[in-house]
Amino acid sequence: MAITREITLIIADDSEEMRETLKTLLTFNEKIRVVGEAADGKEAVMKVLELKPDLVLMDVNMGVMGESDGLWATQEITMQRPQTGIIIISVQKEADYMRKAMSAGARDYLIKPFDSDELFKTIETVAEKERAKWENLPEEMVAKAKGVGEGRVISVFSPKGGVGKSVVTANLAVEVYKRTKKRVLIIDLDLQFGDIALLLNVSPKVTIADIVDNMPPHIDADYVETHISDSASGVRVLAAPLKPEYAEIVTPQIIQNILEIVKHEYDYIFIDTVPSFAGEVLIAFDHSDDIFLIVTPDFLALKNVTLGLAVLDTLNYPSDKVHLILNRTQSLSQVKLKDAEKGLQKKILLEIPSDSELVVSSVNRGQPFVLSHPSSPVAKAMSDLADMLIGDEDEDDAKQREEPGKTIFAGIFKKR
Ligand SMILES: Nc1ncnc2c1ncn2[C@@H]1O[C@H](COP(=O)(O)OP(=O)(O)OP(=O)(O)O)[C@@H](O)[C@H]1O
Ligand SMILES: [Mg+2]
Repeated sequence: MAITREITLIIADDSEEMRETLKTLLTFNEKIRVVGEAADGKEAVMKVLELKPDLVLMDVNMGVMGESDGLWATQEITMQRPQTGIIIISVQKEADYMRKAMSAGARDYLIKPFDSDELFKTIETVAEKERAKWENLPEEMVAKAKGVGEGRVISVFSPKGGVGKSVVTANLAVEVYKRTKKRVLIIDLDLQFGDIALLLNVSPKVTIADIVDNMPPHIDADYVETHISDSASGVRVLAAPLKPEYAEIVTPQIIQNILEIVKHEYDYIFIDTVPSFAGEVLIAFDHSDDIFLIVTPDFLALKNVTLGLAVLDTLNYPSDKVHLILNRTQSLSQVKLKDAEKGLQKKILLEIPSDSELVVSSVNRGQPFVLSHPSSPVAKAMSDLADMLIGDEDEDDAKQREEPGKTIFAGIFKKR
């Protein structure tokens, strides 16, 4: 698909000479327009919020902070305006450095020295991918993405077991926390065999079952909070009971009470579910802004998801709240995206590639792959999904920020 619209771009580099060189080079490509310049990370963030360019060419070693300035600005822009793609410019070839840049949210990188062909190609490819991503996003999600801060609830569901619900829930939550540093909670509603604690390497001392034990007549936020565990990733977890037999004491009514409370305490609440329309799952759906329905590209999963979509429709859940995610796609998979969409009669929001080696080792070690391997294709898919959830910040909010760096270093889980 050829780019037809102009690509707007900001050059962030502390060397005026380098900025001039890049500007001159870019005048030779009529599709690209340089709309601004910045000499350090802070200025780059300000200019992005003001000019809303498609891309930033970001030098990594800037100002007094050196490489951490470029990385900081990348992280800040990704958080405050994820629609602007960042291409890092660096002289360093170390894999570890590039890993950090990609982890901070960069879309691609150029190693100095590079020629104009390389420069143009990287800019055009990144711009094209970013546009496709934002243009295909349902309007409803874009609108909601702007309402960050109201406690957004996301249920991850599938009528078929073993399709990757828990892996997606854990990694997506960690990615959203990594990018926003806001208050992110996972509630494990796989009450019998919940895996979320394991996936985040948490050994919970208390779980959702303990909420029911010695429960006061009226539970409040402080009471619920004492049953929530920390994880090294920064995401907090309301873990599933330690023994399957405790599951039945956690009634849908209790889930209802918990959700009503945590919605006011957290910015993002991810709910892992079971492959059944159980009472507690329906309560989760009632409170959800989005329901991510996971499907794998095989006939049985597609059949079950078709039935699941029909049930959701019968239960009157608006179809624009339900988003299909195709997990474990492979280039040779028998069921291709278009066939899946045709069969399900619904667009697929995102594809997650299959990577057994990485995902299995991540599961076994309790280390989310979005942290250990942020440049891997599976992590990139999570990053794209996080982009859609985080969205653009409300313009007024952005203007009210005194310091662009404030949110990154702000205390986590502070009350609103
Ligand atoms: N994209 C992927 N690539 C490779 N393996 C994957 C991928 N996603 C999930 N898996 C593997 O699939 C298995 C099932 O994943 P997971 O436990 O997340 O599924 P689930 O839907 O939560 O299952 P259940 O219904 O039992 O709760 C895991 O072993 C995981 O390693
Ligand atoms: Mg699971």
